[in-house]
Amino acid sequence: MRRLLVLLVAACNTPAPAIPSATPPSWHVRPMGGTRAIDPGAPATSELLDANGCAKCHAAIVAEWSTSRHALAWTNGIFQREYAARPQPWCVNCHAPLTTQQANIQGTHAAQGVDCATCHVRAGKLVSASKAATSPHATIVDASFGSPAFCADCHEFTFPVLSERGVAMAMTRHPMQNTVASFTAGPYAHQRDGCMTCHGSRANHAFPGGHDPGMREAALDIAWCRREGTIEVAITNANAGHSVPTGDVHRHMYLRVWKSSAPESMFQAFFGRRFELVADGGKRTIWDSTIAPAATKRFAIAPAELAGDEDEAINLELVYVFVENEFPRQGPRDDAPTVSLARRRMSFAALPACQ
Ligand code: HEC
Ligand code: HEC
Ligand code: HEC
Ligand code: HEC
Ligand code: HEC
Repeated sequence: MRRLLVLLVAACNTPAPAIPSATPPSWHVRPMGGTRAIDPGAPATSELLDANGCAKCHAAIVAEWSTSRHALAWTNGIFQREYAARPQPWCVNCHAPLTTQQANIQGTHAAQGVDCATCHVRAGKLVSASKAATSPHATIVDASFGSPAFCADCHEFTFPVLSERGVAMAMTRHPMQNTVASFTAGPYAHQRDGCMTCHGSRANHAFPGGHDPGMREAALDIAWCRREGTIEVAITNANAGHSVPTGDVHRHMYLRVWKSSAPESMFQAFFGRRFELVADGGKRTIWDSTIAPAATKRFAIAPAELAGDEDEAINLELVYVFVENEFPRQGPRDDAPTVSLARRRMSFAALPACQ
């Protein structure tokens, strides 16, 4: 049985995406895919492993980080709800990634999720893209710190082959989260600041994304108009550097168009991903209707399809769902599992003519 498992694992252990340099960058201390925890090394003082310690001198950065999804990566209700259903050690390698966090998973260090040390401490020292003249730290300078390849350590991975205990034995070829690949294939790939063009700056550690109303609303342009006898709805990924939605496999959106008197005749479109099990132990994408960067999805709807009265107002709504099911049983710590991205209401006659 053990031999068989080893063979199976060897067969699907495909090479990890290339890290662009012969010697691995100093932040790169584990294989791709989160198969292991991140080892921060042994710092001279344990202060280097505590975000509260950094606050003495970097108060603004710590304040921004503390409300970010990175800081909440281990404790937030959406994650904890799924983790409770599937408590796999593999998950912990990205949501409380340090070996020093995992040594005491109930402790305050683990509760800091993706914390300062998770990104900045390796071989017991700080790592950063540059070192300031006034810096008191023994900083290892690595120009690729903060590059898309750096983010890929957690934001780009394939489905794992898990042991019965939920330990990742190997990674398959099938993408699970492909935020970095969709960025690299898109129009923003050559931006000097990579992901940081939109997700921060040297001094911004909020890393706003799908949970930030401003980012969510900025991402998409939603237009509706009248073309001959039909309603045309166009949704453009105008401002995200990757597909929308991206990230966790459960994220999805629904576009709905309907008349209040005839909800049973609602038009509905789904934006998300569907998977099927494959023989090598992972899953394979069989459906992906997420919107690629700069792409537009268009829908033509005949008003008659919507039933209702001819001059009745038409409703449009775009709903953004963070979890599998739009109407989940509310857990004790769930933060908004579903939000409305856009709501419009107008009669067919009042819609502008399409250009
Ligand atoms: C005693 C004050 C002090 C403490 C405590 C402190 N730093 Fe710094 N740090 C500085 C100063 C000063 C600089 C240089 C100017 C700047 O970037 O603010 C700096 C720079 C940095 C840099 C940029 C690289 C460099 O060396 O210039 C990083 C990254 C950094 N600190 C991370 C941290 C982290 C993470 C912690 C907590 C584990 C921490 N610092 C704790 C004072 C401190
Ligand atoms: C290789 C790294 C990695 C591993 C392993 C991993 N995740 Fe994640 N997870 C991420 C990243 C990166 C995000 C952020 C993307 C996003 O917000 O959609 C994320 C987001 C999530 C979210 C969405 C949270 C939110 O705030 O909306 C859930 C839920 C989640 N992960 C559950 C899990 C579970 C359960 C496991 C184990 C079965 C797991 N993750 C394993 C990297 C990982
Ligand atoms: C998700 C990874 C990540 C986390 C978590 C993180 N940082 Fe950073 N940090 C970065 C990136 C990326 C940069 C920008 C590097 C660059 O291009 O100079 C940066 C830059 C910095 C700088 C240099 C700012 C400057 O003006 O040059 C400091 C100081 C810093 N971080 C401190 C912290 C502290 C303190 C924490 C914890 C509260 C923290 N970081 C958490 C990724 C991270
Ligand atoms: C050590 C792992 C790790 C690294 C490195 C990392 N992230 Fe994350 N990131 C996560 C996890 C885990 C989450 C999801 C937290 C949650 O909501 O459960 C996340 C969430 C985010 C979000 C918020 C998503 C949302 O839904 O709002 C953004 C944006 C983000 N990361 C950008 C970046 C960028 C840009 C980099 C590189 C500079 C980076 N991350 C590096 C693990 C990481
Ligand atoms: C051109 C701007 C831009 C660039 C470049 C960009 N992003 Fe985003 N990102 C956004 C916007 C806008 C959103 C919010 C859209 C949304 O909710 O999907 C977002 C959302 C996210 C999320 C949350 C998941 C989700 O579906 O909301 C993650 C994680 C993320 N980005 C990571 C990254 C990483 C990693 C990179 C670099 C490889 C990157 N982003 C590059 C604009 C950008």
